[in-house]
Amino acid sequence: MTHTITVIPGDGIGAEVIPAAVAALEALDLPLAFQHAEAGFGTFERGGEALPAATIAACAASDAVLFGATGSPMTRVPGYRSPILVLRRRFDLYANLRPALGVGIDLLVVRENTEGLYSGRERLEDGGATAIAERVITARASERIARIACEAAQRRRGRLTVVHKANVLKETCGLFRRAALEVAAGYPDLAVDELLIDAAAMWLARDPGRFDVIVTTNLFGDILSDLAAGMAGGLGLAASANVGDGRLALFEPVHGSAPDIAGQGTADPRAAILSAALLLDHLGYAAEGERLRRAAYATPHTGDTGATARAVIAALGEAAP
Ligand code: NAI
Ligand code: MG
Repeated sequence: MTHTITVIPGDGIGAEVIPAAVAALEALDLPLAFQHAEAGFGTFERGGEALPAATIAACAASDAVLFGATGSPMTRVPGYRSPILVLRRRFDLYANLRPALGVGIDLLVVRENTEGLYSGRERLEDGGATAIAERVITARASERIARIACEAAQRRRGRLTVVHKANVLKETCGLFRRAALEVAAGYPDLAVDELLIDAAAMWLARDPGRFDVIVTTNLFGDILSDLAAGMAGGLGLAASANVGDGRLALFEPVHGSAPDIAGQGTADPRAAILSAALLLDHLGYAAEGERLRRAAYATPHTGDTGATARAVIAALGEAAP
């Protein structure tokens, strides 16, 4: 059976690293069909839409999406919404899985992807002198993200850490904490503990080896996973998966569009290639995913996107199990 993959390079270095990842996938000679689609700030500037209906339709008709990055402006641009946030919502890709693997660190951050402080509910009051964001936590979203984390922990080393700030955010984090610990109690084979977010950041920096799977809310997970990525070799090696209960899943490097180096051909393509490896795992090609992962980790980035990608592809032969 052929799997259809929608490829969305997006903005900036997305357009440089995603072709490298597609080349690596093609080198594996699997029954994969690629269809290219547009999204991002460049797409918005050209046609007035950051995520055209044709792109959503292409995603809906595929088994997986390989996504580069979008360059979102820091200030509000009328009519613009980050396509990655819209895609996560549209396909209910509620779990963001971010592995971090390096010297002394081998963990997975499972980040809730649909609510929390990224609820999209922000407003100004007092004529602009006060800004308010609503942090939305639901039992349903907390339970389902906890379930994903428990299942991941079962496949890994059997340890789960629930990260929150329930001592201060008594209602929102309180609800998340209760829901997550309750779900985890249904997995008696797991060793479960909990940490406050600030303590979790400290322990991550001091002793990353104590962590296996971390489950947490949207903003905390965003920050902790970047910290873990930084410790595990930097954004050049940080890959992520966005999954839900449906067929579709989306895979993307953790890094953004890197406008400071875009267009130079120097971006490290390995985070995108490692995202492609997660995509292979998801489609059931675990052996090929592992081969690609080994090849990417065994290859240093030369400073030239194309050369590094070719070296990874060359290393595929040696990475055969
Ligand atoms: P960034 O990840 O784009 O860049 C941070 C720093 O890391 C830059 O110095 C960049 O040159 C470097 N870098 C990132 N990826 C690299 C790679 N593959 N190889 C070599 N160097 C790399 O984050 P930044 O600068 O905070 O954001 C830039 C834009 O990207 C913003 O518009 C932001 O909104 C967007 N962004 C989009 C994401 C997404 O599409 N999921 C995620 C993060 C940021
Ligand atoms: Mg981030």
